[in-house]
Amino acid sequence: MKAIDIQNELAKVLFTEAEIQNRLKEIASEIDAEYADKDVLLVGVLNGALMVMADLSRHLKIHCETDWMAISSYGAGTQSSGIVRILKDLSTTIKDRHVLVVEDIVDTGLTLHYLLENLRSREPASLNLMTLLRKPEALQAPVDVKWVGFDIPKEFVVGYGLDYAGKYRNLRDIGVLDPKMYS
Ligand code: IMP
Repeated sequence: MKAIDIQNELAKVLFTEAEIQNRLKEIASEIDAEYADKDVLLVGVLNGALMVMADLSRHLKIHCETDWMAISSYGAGTQSSGIVRILKDLSTTIKDRHVLVVEDIVDTGLTLHYLLENLRSREPASLNLMTLLRKPEALQAPVDVKWVGFDIPKEFVVGYGLDYAGKYRNLRDIGVLDPKMYS
């Protein structure tokens, strides 16, 4: 029996592991400069931001703390539901703290728009957003992104934390699935 390699289930690779790491290093040095004299709390959005958070935080040279939120966005498919629910809240209070939200992707922006409003109501000293990917053509709600890794077309992508029906998060590259894999 032929061994499974999920890399072979991609129709095309958009960003290789090396390209992702290089871009994250560039962004990390800008974040180092922005928060040179401030304590920053990185807030990751589960589960997609798992890899971005792990790698971005390790490229940072400044001190940082990390916390996580889980919010519902997509079901098992590829369409945004528009319904946002907090499944897991922060473990820490963010009042008067410098908060940087770390995201994998801004698609319609509906999830992030809600999340940022929610966090802003808790009165942090500052609130910024970093996202690895953004689909400018898909945007339906205003989302102020301070750092973006790559703008991409309105295509469904997987890998590096991004899933299709819970799978493909463990791919090192980011790519577009072979249409055969949608079942
Ligand atoms: P939005 O509310 O439409 O911006 O979607 C936000 C969430 O949907 C992201 O955090 C992802 O979890 C998921 N998502 C959006 N686009 C994609 C994609 O192309 N691949 C995988 N997940 C996606």
